[in-house]
Amino acid sequence: MKILVTGGAGFIGSALIRHLIADTDASVVNVDKLTYAGDLRTLEGFDARPRYHFEQHDICDRDAMAAIFARHRPDIVMNLAAETHVDRSIDGSAPFIATNIVGTHTLLELALGYWRGLDGEGRQRFRFHHVSTDEVFGALGQSGAFDEDSPYRPNSPYSASKAASDHLVRAWHHTYGLPAVVSNCSNNYGPFQFPEKLIPLTILNCIADKALPVYGRGENVRDWLHVEDHARALHLIATRGEPGRSYAVGGNSERTNLEVVTAICDAVDAALGRKGGSSAQLITFVADRPGHDFRYAIDAGRIARELGFAPSIDFAAGLRRTVRWYLEHEAWWRPLIEHRYAGQRLGLVS
Ligand code: NAD
Ligand code: TYD
Repeated sequence: MKILVTGGAGFIGSALIRHLIADTDASVVNVDKLTYAGDLRTLEGFDARPRYHFEQHDICDRDAMAAIFARHRPDIVMNLAAETHVDRSIDGSAPFIATNIVGTHTLLELALGYWRGLDGEGRQRFRFHHVSTDEVFGALGQSGAFDEDSPYRPNSPYSASKAASDHLVRAWHHTYGLPAVVSNCSNNYGPFQFPEKLIPLTILNCIADKALPVYGRGENVRDWLHVEDHARALHLIATRGEPGRSYAVGGNSERTNLEVVTAICDAVDAALGRKGGSSAQLITFVADRPGHDFRYAIDAGRIARELGFAPSIDFAAGLRRTVRWYLEHEAWWRPLIEHRYAGQRLGLVS
């Protein structure tokens, strides 16, 4: 089984590749452009492994991607390459449109041509798995949960671009018969997450004794899934998901942002021997994100019933483990905050 993973130098893509190499027999081709969010140190030592191969390309580069299909002849394509940060999409949407929409369209066209050229068995086996987000469904109120039948109501430039790509994948299945599956997952956390996202940003600011920005009143709710659980779910969906279907993936761990930030403060206090409650004094309520979705939650019944998936990492324990990981891996994040993103506020409309 040869799996072409796009965006494999990112947070989720690298966790997926670590899982594929450690826990399956699959060979992996990782195609990544290495944007500000891509970092091959997430896969240190992998180049020496016979089942792993890296290619630096942009998924929008049709000729380069055509050559990848011809040279590597994948059984499965898992598309994770994307621009992923909501606040950056508010500041500038162009790269989101290019990678998330045009890039996915480029891959779909190439995958279709490639799939049509396969023999009967290869055509049966081939899958195009598009990895997406629950944010395409918009915002929930205090109750309810998204599932595979939820209507699309994206609210941010990021989620609108992901919604567009989901629709393209659906259409390539419906119109051309491309054996494609989509997954829509809730917020991920864990090691190697770029420090622009809430959890790593809060951990690093907390360690540095800096203000912890909480948008609005911190009442917005997200559902959190550990990235290693998500990686397992993705492998199940790519190999056993039914073409034409989508799968909602969640962690059953809804928390307000203030609960998440407070839990990080407690974990940092404990790990650094600070007096209980001292880091929480760094919490600073700041201007809300424009168009901030109030709540996301997932009914993950389908993937549980059909593919036997359940999250294995409890959020409280997973978060403490993540705090410890950042404390022990300063060599990974220090160059990122010094050279790529220093933690300044993004995504404010003036
Ligand atoms: P990330 O930002 O950490 O990594 C994205 C990766 O894609 C980087 O390595 C980057 O270099 C690469 N990339 C960007 N543009 C590219 C291009 N044009 N060509 C090739 N490579 C390119 O993102 P992530 O958090 O790992 O998310 C991966 C996927 O999962 C995305 O599609 C995202 O929408 C989806 N997702 C993320 C979350 C989350 O909580 N992070 C939740 C649900 C779904
Ligand atoms: P984020 O990690 O950007 O993920 P997403 O917007 O895709 O859910 O943000 C998670 C939540 O945390 C979201 O409700 C916005 C909020 N947030 C803050 O309160 N402060 C911050 O500094 C950041 C980056 C996010």
